[in-house]
Amino acid sequence: MNTEIKIAPETYWVGKIDDREVPFHRLILTKGTTYNSYLLKTGKPTVIDTVDMEFGREYAERLAELIDPLDIHYIVINHTEPDHSGGMAALAGKATNATIVCTEIAVPELQEMYKLHHRNFLVVKDGDTLDIGGKTLLFKETPYLHTAETMITYCLEDKILFPCDIFSTHVAVDTLFSDEAGNDITDDFIGYYNAIIHPHRRYVRTLIEAVKDLEIEMIAPSHGYIIRKDVQKYIDLYATLSRETTEGKKVAIVYTTLKNSTKKIAKILQDSFQENNIAVDVWDADKADKTDILSSIAGADAVFIGSSTKYADMTGTNLEDILKELQSLNLEGKLAAAFGSYGWSGEAIEVVQDYLNGTNMTVQSTSDVIKSTGMTHVEFPVRIRFSPKETEKVQKIKHAAEFVSDLLLSSI
Ligand SMILES: Cc1cc2nc3c(=O)[nH]c(=O)nc-3n(C[C@H](O)[C@H](O)[C@H](O)COP(=O)(O)O)c2cc1C
Ligand SMILES: [Fe+2]
Ligand SMILES: [Fe+2]
Repeated sequence: MNTEIKIAPETYWVGKIDDREVPFHRLILTKGTTYNSYLLKTGKPTVIDTVDMEFGREYAERLAELIDPLDIHYIVINHTEPDHSGGMAALAGKATNATIVCTEIAVPELQEMYKLHHRNFLVVKDGDTLDIGGKTLLFKETPYLHTAETMITYCLEDKILFPCDIFSTHVAVDTLFSDEAGNDITDDFIGYYNAIIHPHRRYVRTLIEAVKDLEIEMIAPSHGYIIRKDVQKYIDLYATLSRETTEGKKVAIVYTTLKNSTKKIAKILQDSFQENNIAVDVWDADKADKTDILSSIAGADAVFIGSSTKYADMTGTNLEDILKELQSLNLEGKLAAAFGSYGWSGEAIEVVQDYLNGTNMTVQSTSDVIKSTGMTHVEFPVRIRFSPKETEKVQKIKHAAEFVSDLLLSSI
């Protein structure tokens, strides 16, 4: 089926079916996958997404049988991950007149990966439209679905959504349309959501709002089946799967401080959790009763422990005792994170982290965040130099709280 297929007026699927067991994101895609690329043969011919890097040459050659690459006016790159942008390596060299359409964050990524520093880029923002000669494309930014630079494209005239990774399935399809698959694709659709999208469910909820007013007759994603029957059912599935639990969740925040900078971090964490409808107990370890603190920790779903650094160690007198006691408690199932304000080296934060690692709580780390989500803006432990007054420090603290909130509130 690796030839072009017309999916709508002047709109062709020009993708690649990959029926191998594909290693991807530390998973093995046992059913293979499909890299869906689309050619819109309008007055200003436009390609939407390409295929995996490995198939780039073959892809560019097949595309050249459908259209003179010099006539390609726009190449829309919804997402820079090379399973979709990889075809650019071969296509950009042939489609030398094409302007590359993407978000601002995507520009340097594409320039670096495919040596496109001297090419024309058209940076689009949320809500921008583009006339491609007979059809109009609307762009919506969808950060972290799947990575920071991601956007989706919607064709106004044909009511087709091109959402790249979103609403995809990892299947080497026999037939392009889900309604012709001969079996219910729901399990594959949910399996894909769980593996790729669920860690980013906060952003799925934003996406659902963003597409609410669009009349979508067809979803043409960049992996697996195209959906033209029961479209709303699949959108609703994302809405349901990304929904928060209604169970009451609780966080305990314990800190020590010299001049209140770490206390301010604790307050930002507290506000952020409360904005996410999570109950919070906050304790100054040097002022509160140790028994009260320990029982609050025992009743919490997540525990944040912070200290500023004084002469390469934790501040205050009580925190170390509390951390020692935690070693012998059964705290299984709880999430934990370290934080603190520091001046130049912040040893105390690392000491707290070591103590937390000695418990049976699931301790958050930057490394685990990157491995499980690919996100680089969420950091654990939360290390803040001096007072958290600048916006980017506040953001960093909030991102940590939001990440843990999302883990606590996941309904699946
Ligand atoms: C006596 C003293 C010793 C300090 N020693 C360290 C240190 O060893 N390493 C470091 O990173 N910061 C050090 N600092 C800087 C503090 O950690 C920094 O000012 C921090 O913002 C204090 O936060 P707090 O108000 O929550 O205590 C020291 C500060 C003081 C006053
Ligand atoms: Fe992706
Ligand atoms: Fe993908």
